[in-house]
Amino acid sequence: MSKLTITGQKRLSGATEVQGAKNSALPILAATVLTRGESVLYHCPDLTDVEASLQILRWLGCKAQREGSTVLVQCDGISRHDIPDGLMRKNRGSLTFLGAVLAAVGKVRLSLPGGCEIGLRPIDLHLKALRRLGAVIKERRGWLDCRAPHGLKGAAVTLPFPSVGATEDIMLAACTASGTTTVTNAAREPEIRDLADYLNRCGAKISGAGSSELVIDGVQALHGAEHAVIPDRIVAATLVTCAAMTGSDITLKGVVHSHLRAVLPVFEDAGCRFEAAGNELRVFSPQRLHSMKIVRTMPYPGFPTDAQAPLLAAATVADGTTVFMENIFENRFRHAAELARMGADIKTEGKFAVVEGVPRLYGASVEAVDLRGAAALLSAGLCAEGVTELDGVRYLERGYERFEQVLSALGADVKKI
Ligand code: UD1
Repeated sequence: MSKLTITGQKRLSGATEVQGAKNSALPILAATVLTRGESVLYHCPDLTDVEASLQILRWLGCKAQREGSTVLVQCDGISRHDIPDGLMRKNRGSLTFLGAVLAAVGKVRLSLPGGCEIGLRPIDLHLKALRRLGAVIKERRGWLDCRAPHGLKGAAVTLPFPSVGATEDIMLAACTASGTTTVTNAAREPEIRDLADYLNRCGAKISGAGSSELVIDGVQALHGAEHAVIPDRIVAATLVTCAAMTGSDITLKGVVHSHLRAVLPVFEDAGCRFEAAGNELRVFSPQRLHSMKIVRTMPYPGFPTDAQAPLLAAATVADGTTVFMENIFENRFRHAAELARMGADIKTEGKFAVVEGVPRLYGASVEAVDLRGAAALLSAGLCAEGVTELDGVRYLERGYERFEQVLSALGADVKKI
């Protein structure tokens, strides 16, 4: 098991390129099972979660290989419709294979996906929507057996909540279904738009992605395509946090500014300043952050739940009180107790966390238990006095590509042991 040791209080400087978005890459890789021919995916982050999806593709009979940041997938019809438990459990994104494999071969058998334990994470919205498209689904002891005995047929689906994963599963199931599918109250996250862009390049007819109304006209077949995965807005937000907590000025390259429009104003409230030019973002940080009063996580375009953990770490050293209201997942303050070991003053109750900023954090032995919590603890280690030992690095590696190297290149003292 590897650990990170972080010697804190080093100023960061210089520029870094933001990796491709994990949450785009995962559904796009699942989408390749619907295609015939080769897909070339640029800017595909090299992460354990992405590797798990490549393993599922190989298991299903596709050729999938990485060349640097490019992933090549050759799919000429898949040879299986079952996905073993060991592969499904590796990440949450594997659930998009449900809609994709069902659409590709008319049946799929898989176990419930893994992913971070940040809440109950039910999949009722996925199943209800797929049933509307004609799927017959049996659930038994953690396994799903889905069939489309009469093929999938377009339908009108209204989501009670704009679930990202359910929206993706519907898109994947509907793009080769007969007739038209409409999705009302669809998720609007940039990763949904990215998946739609890839599918449309493959010959799908999806309109409205990025809005709450999606229209998917079924087509006969999809071919492979070239596509560049969008930059990871959560990694960008984490890098902004690292700069903000160390009083640093850094430049992020390869950023889509509009994807950060709910995030940057919160850092501005804390005293950071930003200069945007082309796809670059310069971050200027104050000596000490101000509190951010109240931060509410919401579906996009609201403040992302995935950026809550790093921002909460920043609030621990801000001057004043910040209140967090976590509206998406019910168990997303697990990093708070570990931050307390470093001297943070955080009280949590249900969906609220109240953070009283302290002048300084101190290095300690801490353990990450989920992906974004790991990023929060790493950011805290960068600003703490002394040495922090971070356990649970495997969580970080699910979503952050060689992050210790990225931070070291910016001047941080982070070592993997
Ligand atoms: C995706 C992201 C995750 C991000 C989240 C919200 C991936 C691989 N993961 O997760 O990083 O934090 O979006 O932006 O892309 N829900 C139900 N029933 C369902 C589905 C969801 O009740 O069938 C609930 C969930 O429990 C949660 C909320 O809806 O409370 C949001 O979940 P959803 O948007 O589906 O998130 P994921 O797709 O799991």
